[in-house]
Amino acid sequence: MFLEIGFLLLFASFGLSDPTLVVIGAGASGIAAATRLLQHGITNITILEANDQIGGRIHSVSLGGRYVDTGAEWCHGEKGNVVYDLVKDLGILQGTPPFYLEIYHSKLKLLNPDFSHALNDIFFELLVESMRSKESVSVGELLIAKYEQVIDQWKDDPSNYKLAQQAIVLLEACVIGFNGGFSWFDLAADVDFVISEGDQNLHWNGLGFKTILNVLMEKSPPINDKILFKKEVRQIIWDSKEAVVQCTDNSSYSADHVIMTVSLGVLKHQHTNLFVPKLPVNKLLAIEQLGIAAVQKIFLYYDRRWWNDSYTGNFFLWDPNDVKNGASWLTAVSVLVPVVHNPNVLQVWIIGDLVPEVEQCSDEVFINGIMYLLDYFGVVDSKIVTRPDAIARQVKNWYTNPYFRGAFSYQTPRTRVGQNSDEAILSEPLGNNPQKPNLLFAGEATSPDHYGTVHGAIDTGFREADRILKMYK
Ligand SMILES: Cc1cc2nc3c(=O)[nH]c(=O)nc-3n(C[C@H](O)[C@H](O)[C@H](O)COP(=O)(O)OP(=O)(O)OC[C@H]3O[C@@H](n4cnc5c(N)ncnc54)[C@H](O)[C@@H]3O)c2cc1C
Ligand SMILES: *[C@@H]1O[C@H](CO)[C@@H](O)[C@H](O)[C@H]1NC(C)=O
Ligand SMILES: *[C@@H]1O[C@H](CO)[C@@H](O)[C@H](O)[C@H]1NC(C)=O
Ligand SMILES: *[C@@H]1O[C@H](CO)[C@@H](O)[C@H](O)[C@H]1NC(C)=O
Repeated sequence: MFLEIGFLLLFASFGLSDPTLVVIGAGASGIAAATRLLQHGITNITILEANDQIGGRIHSVSLGGRYVDTGAEWCHGEKGNVVYDLVKDLGILQGTPPFYLEIYHSKLKLLNPDFSHALNDIFFELLVESMRSKESVSVGELLIAKYEQVIDQWKDDPSNYKLAQQAIVLLEACVIGFNGGFSWFDLAADVDFVISEGDQNLHWNGLGFKTILNVLMEKSPPINDKILFKKEVRQIIWDSKEAVVQCTDNSSYSADHVIMTVSLGVLKHQHTNLFVPKLPVNKLLAIEQLGIAAVQKIFLYYDRRWWNDSYTGNFFLWDPNDVKNGASWLTAVSVLVPVVHNPNVLQVWIIGDLVPEVEQCSDEVFINGIMYLLDYFGVVDSKIVTRPDAIARQVKNWYTNPYFRGAFSYQTPRTRVGQNSDEAILSEPLGNNPQKPNLLFAGEATSPDHYGTVHGAIDTGFREADRILKMYK
C-alpha cells in the first residue's frame, strides 16, 4: 500500500516535470528554446518547421569553397551579446577592418576619392548619431536636417555641393540597409534597441552564421528527431486546458505549452487565421505598429576576378536626370563589396522599396543587370568584366516568402517605446491558467532590447524556455 502510494507520487511528480511542448519554427529562437528545455530534462518536445531545413533567417550557403550568408551575417557587438558569449572561446569570429566605399556616379563615373571618403565618414557618423537620438521623429526627418548642416562645408564648391545633395540617397541606403526598413521615414529615431558594445561587424570567417546553431545543439541532448519539417502550422487553439496545433497537412498536436516563434511578418499576414481565439487587442496593436520590410543580399562568385585587392567596394549614385522616367529595379542596387574572407566573391546589396521586385527577378535577369551597371557606371571596362560563374541568392526571399514576409523587425514612429514597448507586449504569454500559460511567444520581434538580430532571437528562446522551467520547479 505504502509502496503503491509512493509509486503514484513518484509518477505524479514525474508527470508534472514532463510537460508536452510544441515549438513552432526551427529558427534561432526555436532552436535556442528547445535546446535549453532538453538540457533541463524536458524531452517531450515537437518542433514544427514549415521549411525543409533549420535556421530560418540564418541561411548559410556554400559558395567559392566557403559559406556566405544570405540572411544574418554579422555578430553585432560583444558585450551583452549571447551569440558572442557562446562562441568567443572558439576563435571563429573575426573583425572587419574599416574600409571606404568609392562612389560611382551614373554621369560622372568615379568621383574624387577624397570627396567620397568624406561622405563615407559623414554617413557613418550620422548612422551612429541616429541610433543615439531621443527625438520622437522618424530617422528620415532627423537625418535630412542634420545632413543639410554637415554638407554646408561644400557651400562654396557648387559641383561638390550638388553631388553631396544627391548623395543623401546613399545615406538613406546605409540607414535602411542597417535597420531593415523600406524608407527612413518608417524608422523611429528614438528606439529601445540597446547596442552591444564592441565590434559591430564580426564575421564568421567563411564558416557561416549557421555555426551558432551547431554550437547551441552541441550543448544539448540530440534534437534532430524532435524536428518535423514541411509542417506549416495553420491554426493554434490556445484557450483550453491543452493547446491544439493544426498543420496544413491536417496533422494536429496537443501540448501543455506552445512556443510561437514565427516572424513579425508572418504574424502581420496570418494572425487572424492562426489564433483561436483571436489575439488580445494590445498584441494586435503591437503587431500592427512594429515594422518589418526587407533587404536582399546576393553573392556573385567569379573563377577569375576582374578586380584586385585595392578594390574595397562601391556605391552606385544615380544622377536624378537618369531616373526621371521612373526608377528601375537597378536603382535598388546600392552597394557592391568584396567578401573579405572569400576572395573570389562579391556581395550585392539591394535596398529600399524595390526589394520585392528584385526578389522576383531570375538569376539571369539579375546578372545581366549587374553587368550593365558595372559598365554604365564605369566600375569596370566592359571588355574586362566577366559573367559570374555562380550566384547565391534566394529567389522570392525574404519579403515574398510566406514563411518570413520580411527580413528583421524595427520600431516605427508609431511604436510605443519604453517600459511596455510593443516588443514587450508581444512577448506576454497567453492562456486560461496564468500560472501555466499555454501560448508563449519568442522570436526576434519579441526582444525588447535586441530585436532585429540573432542574439535577440536567442535571448527570447532562452527566456521562454526559462519561463516554462520555472513553472515546473
Ligand atoms: C537579409 C538579412 C540580414 C540579416 N543580418 C543580420 C545580421 O547581420 N546580424 C544579426 O544578428 N541578425 C541579422 N538578421 C536578423 C536575424 O536573421 C533574425 O533576427 C533571426 O535569425 C530571427 O530568428 P527567429 O527565430 O526569431 O525567426 P526565424 O529565423 O524567422 O524563425 C522562424 C521559423 O518559423 C518558420 N515558420 C514560419 N511560419 C511558419 C508556420 N506557419 N508553421 C511552421 N513554421 C513556420 C520559419 O520557416 C522559420 O524557420 C538578418 C536577417 C536577414 C533576413
Ligand atoms: C508526449 O506527449 C504526448 C501528448 O501528451 C504523448 O502522446 C506522447 O506519448 C508523449 N511522448 C513521449 C515520448 O513521452
Ligand atoms: C485536410 O482536410 C480537409 C477537410 O477534411 C480536406 O479537404 C483536405 O484535402 C485535407 N488536406 C490534406 C493535405 O490532407
Ligand atoms: C588595381 O586595379 C585598379 C583599377 O583597375 C588599377 O588602377 C590598379 O593599378 C590595380 N592595382 C594593382 C596593385 O594591380
